[in-house]
Amino acid sequence: MAARNPRKLIAGNWKMNGSRNSLAMVEALRAGAGAGGVGADLLVCPPATLIAPVAQALAGSAIAVGGQDCHALASGAYTGDLSAEMLAEAGATHVIVGHSERREHHGETDAMVRDKMRGAWRAGLVAIACVGETKAQREAGEALAVVGAQVKALLESDVGGANTAIAYEPVWAIGTGLTPTVADVAEVHRLIRATIAQAVGPETAAGVRLLYGGSVKPGNAAELMAADDVDGALVGGASLVADDFLAIARAC
Ligand code: PGA
Repeated sequence: MAARNPRKLIAGNWKMNGSRNSLAMVEALRAGAGAGGVGADLLVCPPATLIAPVAQALAGSAIAVGGQDCHALASGAYTGDLSAEMLAEAGATHVIVGHSERREHHGETDAMVRDKMRGAWRAGLVAIACVGETKAQREAGEALAVVGAQVKALLESDVGGANTAIAYEPVWAIGTGLTPTVADVAEVHRLIRATIAQAVGPETAAGVRLLYGGSVKPGNAAELMAADDVDGALVGGASLVADDFLAIARAC
């Protein structure tokens, strides 16, 4: 059976935050990661306008840069959209797709997210596909069913550890300071791993990194990252502060 990736991936999702002033924070990240030797792979996903300057600031470092969304197609009459190829040209190696804020505010469906994953792969990017239940679904005992169905809808034979990560982000935990118990996170991640294994086999499934996201902070990162089947974190708010982001990475 193919081994799990031994290194955690700590990904920062800046959302619609940041400006050129954030390059100072990126420099601090670079300096901190270089000096401290964090034991995790690091990725920052700034707004699209900052991908090129951030990639430039991180050139030659071990910190990767990603986008927060992409269009499914490579080019065309889609005003305001960006293709995965464009993100790649700007310096991105990863792209988040299907974040719950995209699903909620832009009506993105599982089918659309799957198309975006294909777009990411076509451009050579690693797709970080997000899934997660709402508070009402969790309270109704539907979390496993909802997440299982979302993952199933995203999978196809091309999925593998080199091109895909799945981020489990309970909607009610994002930006709220609330987190599921470690046991709940492990339960959902186990289901995600099993669902991937059904689609592409256990060997391939073992290599797909499963990230937890939702109010990950320096104070809770160690226990969340130690949970079974957790291969990293997708971090929102705490990724905007270099010291916090590095502390999360060091907690792995
Ligand atoms: P948060 O966001 O860490 O601020 O809760 C996580 C995310 O939305 O990816």
